Amino acid sequence: SDTEKGTYTHYMLKEIDEQPFVIRNILQKYQDDHNEIKLSDDIRSALNSADRLYIIAAGTSYHAGLVGKEIMEKAAGKPVEVHIASEFLYNQPLLSQNPLFIFISQSGETADSRGVLVNVKEAGHPALTITNVPGSTLSREADFTLHTYAGPEIAVASTKAYTAQMAVLSILAMDGAHARGIDTDFDAIHELSIAANAMEVLCDQKDNMEQIARDYLLESRNAFFIGRSFDYHVVQEGALKLKEISYIQAEGFAGGELKHGTIALIEEGTPVIALATQENVNLNIRGNLQEVVARGANPCVVSMEGSHRDTDQVVLPPVHSYLAPLVSVVPLQLISYYAALHRGCDVDKPRNLAKSVTVE
Ligand code: G6P
Repeated sequence: SDTEKGTYTHYMLKEIDEQPFVIRNILQKYQDDHNEIKLSDDIRSALNSADRLYIIAAGTSYHAGLVGKEIMEKAAGKPVEVHIASEFLYNQPLLSQNPLFIFISQSGETADSRGVLVNVKEAGHPALTITNVPGSTLSREADFTLHTYAGPEIAVASTKAYTAQMAVLSILAMDGAHARGIDTDFDAIHELSIAANAMEVLCDQKDNMEQIARDYLLESRNAFFIGRSFDYHVVQEGALKLKEISYIQAEGFAGGELKHGTIALIEEGTPVIALATQENVNLNIRGNLQEVVARGANPCVVSMEGSHRDTDQVVLPPVHSYLAPLVSVVPLQLISYYAALHRGCDVDKPRNLAKSVTVE
């Protein structure tokens, strides 16, 4: 069943492996008989009448929101802000005339996000919750809910819920584009099915990821992740995953920003994991890599077929640039998993962390 490990040693590995099926499941749930996206008219009109979207989330769900903003703005031309719930709660930014709030929460129970939702409803603004638990508090108290259909996520470190959130956000973005009559060439349904296949290819490369974890992370105190554009958001998630379960100090940086300070930390052998899936910034991120390699860094590159180099450690099958995050995060999840495993950490139940944080 969904809540049993079966032959897996850890829930996290099982949940990483489930990701292609989760995406395919989402595709089924969000399509009608004519292979068109079906969202309720209420959600469609709420999206359409909003002049700006405010995404509110915490942790990994916040990282999904960062990617969701990019897709929504690029595919649907709708301005989006993404906020950390606990920051928004006590330091609210100026709002637009007709905001729509989107809460992203795997559990639907996070107290920081709930605090914002209570204020938002008091102020009379519409709210949509994207969650893996439809009966949850955030789902019940919002006006609308979109279900991520990832199935129960047991491991504390979130994996399949994150990719499911991004998939649902991409469907919402495409629907938003259609509702506004925008002629987008982004076909979320088609591209998500290609991405699901690519995720499966990566899930079959566990030996490679285990070797990377051994080569780069077994003896490391720290690790840096760099990426630009969409890849920047994914390296933030990759670094969080590594921190959460392996306790290696890790940070995700915008490729161009490292040289403005943090490059001081690069020493002989410091692991630098670079994402290079975005064609338009490929040369820039390669340049950033050279900067750290010149200072002794040990580079590991995750790129995409088409703009890859022969020396890259992981090469993803080609997918739409908006959906590269769903695929590129898979090797980062696996590398974190094997690093934690071989460092003797409790992968599914890392110290100091809770699956859902219901206190502020
Ligand atoms: C906790 C978990 C994180 C999660 C965050 C937000 O801190 O340990 O993995 O990303 O809460 O949870 P949510 O259920 O709101 O997505």
